[in-house]
Amino acid sequence: MDEIYAGSYEAALERSAKLEADLTANPGKYRVMTGDRPTGKLHIGHLFGSLLNRVRLHRLGVHTFILIADYQVLTDRDTFENIAENIKQLTIDYLAAGIDPEDGKTVIFPHSHVPELNQLLLPFLTLVTNAELDRNPTVKEEIQAAGLSRINAGMYTYPVHQAADILFCKGNVVPVGKDQLPHLELTRTIARRFNERFAAKKAVFPEPQPLLSKTPVVLGLDGSQKMSKSRNNAVMLSATPDETAALIKRAKTDSERVITWDPVNRPEVANLLTLISLSTGKEPQAIADEIGDGGGGKLKSMLTESLNSYLAPHRARRAELEANPDYIHAVLRKGVEEARKFAAATLDEVRDVMNMKI
Ligand code: TRP
Repeated sequence: MDEIYAGSYEAALERSAKLEADLTANPGKYRVMTGDRPTGKLHIGHLFGSLLNRVRLHRLGVHTFILIADYQVLTDRDTFENIAENIKQLTIDYLAAGIDPEDGKTVIFPHSHVPELNQLLLPFLTLVTNAELDRNPTVKEEIQAAGLSRINAGMYTYPVHQAADILFCKGNVVPVGKDQLPHLELTRTIARRFNERFAAKKAVFPEPQPLLSKTPVVLGLDGSQKMSKSRNNAVMLSATPDETAALIKRAKTDSERVITWDPVNRPEVANLLTLISLSTGKEPQAIADEIGDGGGGKLKSMLTESLNSYLAPHRARRAELEANPDYIHAVLRKGVEEARKFAAATLDEVRDVMNMKI
């Protein structure tokens, strides 16, 4: 059982690069499964870190499932008042970024609406030990970050639920950040143990592979931690150009006048240069040279301008979609219907190999 959480990040990166090449060559072999918690609107860290990557895979023609993990929200916070609104906003950002639910290859749905998926949690829970759940590093970090004094059992078991999220549709590629690797490793273990125990002759589940994003983690405007709405250091995709300008004005830089590309010693400046680079396609080094002794003021005005013009089409599509809530509902209802077909077929197979057919 010790294979869980073993294996280095470097090895995962190497496997990811190979997978990436094969995905491009043979998109039909793969089913991409990704998910987000509906905790609020998305920010540019989400866009550059994961959304654009999903759009790219989607455009290769890969069958894509995008799951909205509404049950997971309950693991680390008390608030649930905004979940429905957050699901809507998340869907709007997916569509505005270029995910096209009309192509017949994309399924967007909240997992709370797919009972057959949730039922897979029960057999899966019997395939892992308490000790394994206890040592999941991402869960430990989340418990700490949320400052929880009483930890609900959903917090410990959500990685098993996540295995159901991924395996119900037999997803075999999961684009993830580093923090999700332990969950994916657990999903692979559950798939393997299920097959070994119940389906020795013919495997029911694939062992899904992680696809690590090449985009660097986007730091918040404070330059010291990951961008996140709750840390108050994020530019939301829905922000107006003026709000964006005001946020960037407050961004942290340093006391050196001349702008240089030096990610190790000048992380705040490097982060702003990275954001200009992501919105213009220019190399950070070239941008730094161009700004030179224009200093922090020039750096910020250039970022404001390039980010606002880069985001303008997303924001325009976002506003259009926001004015059309019926369409968003229709997309989600269709997604649920489609997801349920896959989940029911998988649950049927699972019952069959577990000798629970009546
Ligand atoms: N745990 C993921 C996060 O916090 C969300 C998630 C839920 C997910 N189910 C998933 C991600 C399935 C990928 C696949 O971001």
